Amino acid sequence: MALQTRKLTETIGTEVIAPVEELLKPEVAAQVRQILVERGVLLFPQLGISDEDQVRLASLIGTVREEGEKGIFKITLDNKANAQALYLKGSFNWHMDGTHDHVPVFGSLLTARVLSKEGGDTLFANSYAAYEALPQAMKDRIADLRVVHSFAYSMEQAGIEKTPETEAHWNSIPDQTHALVWPHKSGRKSLVIGCHASHVVGMDPDESAALIAELMDWVTQERFTYRHKWTVGDMLIWDNTGVLHRATPYALGSGRMMHRTTLMGEEAFA
Ligand code: OGA
Ligand code: MN
Repeated sequence: MALQTRKLTETIGTEVIAPVEELLKPEVAAQVRQILVERGVLLFPQLGISDEDQVRLASLIGTVREEGEKGIFKITLDNKANAQALYLKGSFNWHMDGTHDHVPVFGSLLTARVLSKEGGDTLFANSYAAYEALPQAMKDRIADLRVVHSFAYSMEQAGIEKTPETEAHWNSIPDQTHALVWPHKSGRKSLVIGCHASHVVGMDPDESAALIAELMDWVTQERFTYRHKWTVGDMLIWDNTGVLHRATPYALGSGRMMHRTTLMGEEAFA
């Protein structure tokens, strides 16, 4: 049976309507993966999937990363529910997950359990489509550039309080240098950029800051983005290799609770 799908925007995102039992068929999950790679983001409105089925579906799409409880990592700003809650404030800025790894996560499945009264939308930007649409002169200019990604830099940008403890933690995560243009085995290219992108290697600091800002503005233009306003029970999946994402700010005590299952990376940065 063909899946019932609808494009969310021209450049990013597809809505998929199917019951959970259907998605859990291996051949259907394989089809879901294919659409995910083509479209960057998948929305399953009010799917109401259980934690167990979310992890099962994830394992049919890729390899589940062991984190949280049995593959369910709680995305919340309540530090009683997640010891790393403070750092999740960093997710209010555009980012890719895993820029401090050699092999970044392939993607994530995220379901809404409790919503905040205000804020808490999730935005996605397609950096495959954004790269493709760049003027040739910019493609030539950035072809061989390398960018340093720094956790400490992104935490400072996010305005997260700097104490001796937090700073020691930030600095314990080593900086990584990745090619700005990531050529994938598929033949496609995406931009490796976001709030961790501190500077371009060997470039004058002002020029580097201006270039990173220009590319960020380019990728996050409305024409490459999809903004999701959540309803409880919605599930989203994104392909982290060519999609930037961010949450719109929500309050620490808002109760917002998302359940995430993360898929292990399959391809190293260049
Ligand atoms: C993430 C993330 C955004 C959100 O889970 O990696 O950035 O809206 N989430 O919760
Ligand atoms: Mn994230």
